[in-house]
This record gives sequence, C-alpha cells and structure tokens, in this order.
Amino acid sequence: MSATHQTVQAQAFSEATLARFAREVAKYPAEQKQSAVMACLAIVQQEQGWVSPEAEKGVADYLGMPPIAVHEVTTFYNMYNQKPVGKFKLNVCTNLPCTLRDGGKALQYLEQKLGIHMGETTADGLFTLQQSECLGACADSPVMLVNDRHMCSFMSHDKLDQLIDGLKAAEGKV
Ligand code: FES
Repeated sequence: MSATHQTVQAQAFSEATLARFAREVAKYPAEQKQSAVMACLAIVQQEQGWVSPEAEKGVADYLGMPPIAVHEVTTFYNMYNQKPVGKFKLNVCTNLPCTLRDGGKALQYLEQKLGIHMGETTADGLFTLQQSECLGACADSPVMLVNDRHMCSFMSHDKLDQLIDGLKAAEGKV
C-alpha cells in the first residue's frame, strides 16, 4: 500500500451517491461487488469532476477492496481525472500511428493556441490538454477526445481553431 493511501481519510459520500453505488453493486453477485469499481469511480468523477485520493479510499472501503487496487484502476484508465480538470478536457492521441500522421503537431498547435503545456489547464479553467493512448481511430489522425466522449477526427489546424473558438464562444469567452 502506498504511503499516500495509508494517511488518506476516506471520503464520506452522500446518501444520494451511496444509492447510486448500490444500484451498480446490485448488478453483480454479492461476492463480486468489487466488479462495480469502475462504475463507482465514474459516479464520483461525474459528481466531483475528478477522483481524489480520499474518494478512492471511500470507494475502496465501500467495496471492501484494498485502496491500492482502486488506485490501480484510477491510474490505468486515463478517463479518470486524478486532479481537477478544466471544463473541456482535450485528449490528443500521440500514439505511434497518430504521431506519424500529425498527432504530435496537433498537440503542439493546441499548446500554442491555449498557451499551456500538455497536462496543464488554462487559467480561466476552460481547457485541460492531455495526451492519450490509441483511440482506435488511427486512420482518422489527428484524432482527439473531448471530455472522454466526443471523438474529433482529421483535426487539421483549421479544425482545431474551429473547435476551440466554438467552445470558447459557447462559454461566452471570446
Ligand atoms: S494511434 Fe491514434 S487513434 Fe490509434
């Protein structure tokens, strides 16, 4: 067990959150309730925007799992945010096939346009820029995911401008 998790206090979840956890756990046999770990972490992130060490510990306690086992899930899947992120999380694929087809250039262009480095969040809290592993759409490179759900393909500099400017306009930040 990591030192971090030994010292962390488990988060106490609201009744509403616990009810959502219970609905996920009910989908599995009682002795396999740990199978609901991904769903419980997704609920935490949906409600809090990220999965803190305290929340990981709370989920671990709820499911009867070692905290490190929950931490392994959180860190394996990059859809789980391990720190607070901006309103729009942009994940640009830089795996090899995409890198050979301008994935790295798309990431660099976004770094310049947003004035942040990969892994950072803009000062206005609007955008977080991250790399991602293969998104399963290598032929459409450069590709990116917005908020873990919306896939954007063939992201030329023009299309990146349209995306960022459109999101800013939607938030009244232009
Ligand atoms: S390598 Fe980028 S989508 Fe597959």
